[in-house]
Amino acid sequence: MQKIQVQTTVEIYDSYESFTDDEKKLFSLARQACHSAYAPYSQFQVGAAVWLADGQMFIGNNQENAAYPSGLCAERVALFYASALNPKTPIKAIAVTVNYEAAPDFDEIISPCGSCRQAIVEYEYKFKQAIVIYMLGKNEKVYLVRSMNSLLPFFFSGDVLSSFQNH
Ligand code: THU
Repeated sequence: MQKIQVQTTVEIYDSYESFTDDEKKLFSLARQACHSAYAPYSQFQVGAAVWLADGQMFIGNNQENAAYPSGLCAERVALFYASALNPKTPIKAIAVTVNYEAAPDFDEIISPCGSCRQAIVEYEYKFKQAIVIYMLGKNEKVYLVRSMNSLLPFFFSGDVLSSFQNH
């Protein structure tokens, strides 16, 4: 039997001061976006903002449905929106947050769900470029990972499918 250990690095910041103006703009877009989420069932209003390699930024928020699985998370709304309009432009980063004002005592960081992690991996694979993920907490707290590899080790991607087809 062999064991391997997988290590992950998450950077934690307590303020926005070391971030660039572009990053702060991305954070502000994600934070604004949660206010227009459609989350009547969970009341959990999530906002996301995607930053493309050419500088464009696109927002998304969760869109729920009375038939629960028909809804979609904020991250995928933002990614699919950005990608539908810019299929050839690599994605540099995504920021995600929740409406902390709606639950004043809540101060946990939220991180992308499993399906959103898989969707982010797809765009890393598509453009062969890591995507930075900013998880924006209460006030100016930020958890940052430099690639989805840090949140989803042993991910499944198109590389495995091409390898399979080549054998
Ligand atoms: N949700 C997101 O939009 N993003 C996440 O990363 C976690 C969960 C949404 C889905 C659903 O509308 C609500 O939050 C509760 O799960």
